[in-house]
Amino acid sequence: MKVLMVCLGNICRSPLAEGIMQNLIDRQHLPWKVDSAGTSGYHAGSPPDIRSIEIAQKYGISIESQRSRKFHYTDFEQFDKILAMDSENYSNIIQMAENDAERAKVELIMNYAYPAENRQVPDPYYDRIDGFDKVFNMLQIAAEKFVDKHKKQ
Ligand code: 4NP
Repeated sequence: MKVLMVCLGNICRSPLAEGIMQNLIDRQHLPWKVDSAGTSGYHAGSPPDIRSIEIAQKYGISIESQRSRKFHYTDFEQFDKILAMDSENYSNIIQMAENDAERAKVELIMNYAYPAENRQVPDPYYDRIDGFDKVFNMLQIAAEKFVDKHKKQ
């Protein structure tokens, strides 16, 4: 399984999602790969937001070596699943897809925790630190469900 986590800036939400998934992969010794990207290139080359780094650290996960990059069409080839944080990210990625197989790879990450509810991971960029804590915990639940569902396949 190769999974790509996608948000807007690739500095707040998707770096946390990548760090959480990498931690699960490591702990369960899964032969998986995870990466993250943003639909915008605003922060390309930057490390994650300091608040994401600090929240990840609080839960024992290191994400500071990640660097932001923009989602690219070739990611449809490189990854089996592309998990969007919110419906704006979802539609931006879907618009770039060229066929049904590519479209089928794109899902809202929170649908793993709450099937078919289309819940959003809120953008915490303008929030206080507790917004990042909430996002971390949402993503932890969704990532665990994703692993449970796909590790048997
Ligand atoms: P992210 O949060 O999509 O979770 O990385 C954001 C970070 C930066 C901006 C927007 C969202 N921005 O507009 O700079």
